[in-house]
Amino acid sequence: MREITKIAPAEGKLGILIPGIGAVTTTFIAGVEAIRRGLAKPIGSVTQLSTVRLGKRTDGRSPLVKDFVPLAGLNDLVFGGWDIFEDNGYEAAQRAGVLDASLLEKVKDPLSAIKPMKAVFDQEYVKRINGPNVKDKGSKMDKAEMLMEDIRNFKQTSGASRLAMIWCGSTEVFHRAAPVHATVKDFECGLMKNDPEISPSQIYAYAALKSGVPYANGAPHLTVDTPAMMELARDRGVPIAGKDFKTGQTFMKTLIAPGLKARMLGMHGWFSTNILGNRDGEVLDEPGSFKSKEETKSSSIHQILQPDLYPDLYGDIHHKVRIEYYPPRGDAKEGWDNIDIFGWLGYPMQIKINFLCRDSILAAPLVLDLVLFLDLAQRAGMRGVQEWLSFYFKGPMTAPGLYPEHDIFIQLMKLKNTLRWMQGEDLITHLGQEYYD
Ligand SMILES: NC(=O)c1ccc[n+]([C@@H]2O[C@H](COP(=O)([O-])OP(=O)(O)OC[C@H]3O[C@@H](n4cnc5c(N)ncnc54)[C@H](O)[C@@H]3O)[C@@H](O)[C@H]2O)c1
Repeated sequence: MREITKIAPAEGKLGILIPGIGAVTTTFIAGVEAIRRGLAKPIGSVTQLSTVRLGKRTDGRSPLVKDFVPLAGLNDLVFGGWDIFEDNGYEAAQRAGVLDASLLEKVKDPLSAIKPMKAVFDQEYVKRINGPNVKDKGSKMDKAEMLMEDIRNFKQTSGASRLAMIWCGSTEVFHRAAPVHATVKDFECGLMKNDPEISPSQIYAYAALKSGVPYANGAPHLTVDTPAMMELARDRGVPIAGKDFKTGQTFMKTLIAPGLKARMLGMHGWFSTNILGNRDGEVLDEPGSFKSKEETKSSSIHQILQPDLYPDLYGDIHHKVRIEYYPPRGDAKEGWDNIDIFGWLGYPMQIKINFLCRDSILAAPLVLDLVLFLDLAQRAGMRGVQEWLSFYFKGPMTAPGLYPEHDIFIQLMKLKNTLRWMQGEDLITHLGQEYYD
């Protein structure tokens, strides 16, 4: 057994701050409120339902994750956030149309109490929507300071002892890191000069990190994955994670691709298309925002199959990803995948996947797990990029120069081993020689 990491206890309330009170956020908050009232179970949440095996298979020790590490309890969560629309949480949930009216009615009071704070918004970054509830005066630095004040006020009025922020706002248009993202100094200079390369999500992230609040990015755009933000997170001793929740089609990809590779089956191509009719789908219908999504959605196959190591199997893969905005479907996304594979002697085969999923139902438990784990990491003194949370993301963040791990089974092992490591338990290698000695 190694030494136990010193973890501060989860005392008091944990405040969850969310830019974007849309479909994912309201499904998450309504779900937590329903679970607290015994109306539902936290299906899909690793922190609430998963166990972690400790010691040998013969030891019979498999506590629940939430009993093994000191996580904030669901009754200790309080919620706040920002949106460009003034709808309260209940109205936003009704608009999102994910949850039944009868369930929403039962959690109407706590949802109605979520009144979005004025957002930092720039239509250059999200072109398809616009709303009135925005901070429209001052420089980007002024806006960052206003967000820091919102954070302080929320902490005081909610009585939270700790905070975590998670971006569930719209996907911003694709931008690469620019010179303004090189160092904290460059970034702060850019905030003062209103540098156009600084997006609203980066202003929220800056405000969070400066306030010592951990930050996760649920969308695919550039936010905390820049040298400046990584530097700030390290300096302030704050954990960061991203990016883009791994929920539907990419989740399927990272389940299936490792299996095909494990059997050394080859692949000619993978064609993925989706129809999606919610506001997220509307935003992603705009080429700049879609480009952000395409980047995170496309990276997993290449990283998992490692064509450089296996040129005969994966050297020439045609990978195509499409998202079609189709309003009648609302949040009930439908994904089709066609995978062209080949086996012994090169004989071709096909796999078809038709996933009739619900986007926000898949995303909500990830939001819960991420905020609880970020808070745990913060209390355990873990700062900067939290690679062990790759499990939750389509485009996992890593240290510069390190390729990300996309295989969901390796990601889960990494996550659980990190929990074992924190608590001074032996890591599980699955070697198993000790049973045969
Ligand atoms: N649901 C999933 O399965 C899934 C998976 C991966 C990523 N995501 C991402 O999660 C995000 C949220 O998805 P959703 O379905 O809830 O979308 P949504 O459109 O229902 O909600 C997003 C909300 O963000 C608000 N917003 C936009 N810019 C803002 C800003 N600068 N400040 C504050 N609020 C702002 C919008 O007004 C909207 O209410 C999207 O970026 C989406 O791409 C979702």
